[in-house]
Amino acid sequence: MSGTAIGSVTVTLNGSDHAIKLPLLPGTIGPSVFDIRKLYPELGVFTYDPGYGGTAACESKITYIDGDEGILLHRGYPIDQLAEKSTFLEVAHLLLNGELPNEAELAAFERDVLLHTMVHEQLRQFYNGFRRDAHPMAVICGVVGALSAFYHDSLDVNNPVHRRISAFRLIAKVPTIAAWAYKYSLGQPFMYPRNDLGYAENFLYMMNAVPAEPYHVNPVLARAMDRILILHADHEQNASTSTVRLAGSTGANPFACVAAGIASLWGPAHGGANEAVLKMLAEIGSKEAIPDFIAKVKDKNSNVRLMGFGHRVYKNYDPRAKIMERTCHEVLDELGIKDDPLLDLALELERIALHDEYFISKKLYPNVDFYSGIILKAMGIPTSMFTVLFAVARTVGWISQWKEMMEDPLQRIGRPRQLYTGHPQRDYVALDERG
Ligand code: SDX
Repeated sequence: MSGTAIGSVTVTLNGSDHAIKLPLLPGTIGPSVFDIRKLYPELGVFTYDPGYGGTAACESKITYIDGDEGILLHRGYPIDQLAEKSTFLEVAHLLLNGELPNEAELAAFERDVLLHTMVHEQLRQFYNGFRRDAHPMAVICGVVGALSAFYHDSLDVNNPVHRRISAFRLIAKVPTIAAWAYKYSLGQPFMYPRNDLGYAENFLYMMNAVPAEPYHVNPVLARAMDRILILHADHEQNASTSTVRLAGSTGANPFACVAAGIASLWGPAHGGANEAVLKMLAEIGSKEAIPDFIAKVKDKNSNVRLMGFGHRVYKNYDPRAKIMERTCHEVLDELGIKDDPLLDLALELERIALHDEYFISKKLYPNVDFYSGIILKAMGIPTSMFTVLFAVARTVGWISQWKEMMEDPLQRIGRPRQLYTGHPQRDYVALDERG
């Protein structure tokens, strides 16, 4: 743990003269933390924070978010600069290794990824066990988890060489596995990765090409896809990253941990929101129907949420949403789509919500998922593949956070406690004596 205490808080229990001091530890930027590790051993009490809204579960140097200012930094670099000037594999190197690579380092990193884009031929068999209409998130969750069955020679999580090769294998193979899940749903042949293509270009190639004819990926769409991957790469200790960290803290292999992350990302409150936004826009149907929909959202009993809006951390605009909206216009222009009804509807919905007291008072702004679905749909990617794409990108963040945790000398198994409000101890009642 870096940093010396910059203060403390003294805790005593009513009726006890035993007081303990909890040190206040500073970060480089952002909120300091009260180190509560001696609270239970010395006072026998836990802290209580369902949903971990105010709890730092770890120390990290990878990503910083300022939710009030709408700031997102990866190793200190602002997301808007990375989205404009970097590439996904360069950001992957930055997240994994802590620095932007020089030319030789980037070339070596890209080569290392490219050497692992193919999967074991036997892995193809796993797809046949799924129905053709299986949700692709179910497919990639199963197939990524199965990867660990193919690498018995390099699953020692305490071996840095094994950790490195596993990171490359996951970053390289998840796009192949994801694209094959799409091909499987179509009943089309799998397309093998091509090492003469860039990372995002290769993914779009495997998604859209067929063996029967040559396929050229539109460079503007490849660049847009690369930027979308950058925007989804990592995001501090979000639910799926925390899932990967907790699974990894037990010593589980990285393939199993990333499969757990995929499962966690699938939820509509998290990575599944991009798919939910498209469904929401389709249900609203027209600008005229927006006021009724907004009224439903405000009605607590409706259980209806404005998907793609709100965030546990951002109480301002998600900086990724702004870049995503810009990218949306670029892609629609490139595709010659003059007025996309979905985009028009989304822009009107955003305009109304941003002027509505309900959303203003609750600090609900568009998040990364609000526009991403519109771009992906315009690129011909089916709604069911939106969260899969999120998983392709977030695999880099998951494995970077997993690596950081595994290299932390203080790392130990994660084991949250609880506030127990169930029955005190009571004796068993025989069946014939129960009421
Ligand atoms: C991602 O954590 C990350 O970093 C995630 C992510 C990443 O990159 O990993 O950024 C990716 O998951 C983005 C979020 C995608 N999800 C959605 O768009 C789904 C819709 N949004 C929500 O369900 C909600 O905003 C959450 C889940 C994102 C955040 O929920 P919180 O922080 O637990 O907030 P909350 O549910 O406690 O809501 C606070 C209040 C509540 O009202 P009150 O009970 O105080 O009266 O705001 C309301 C909520 O009802 N609210 C919404 C709303 N989101 C919150 N009301 C309507 N529509 C919404 N979208």
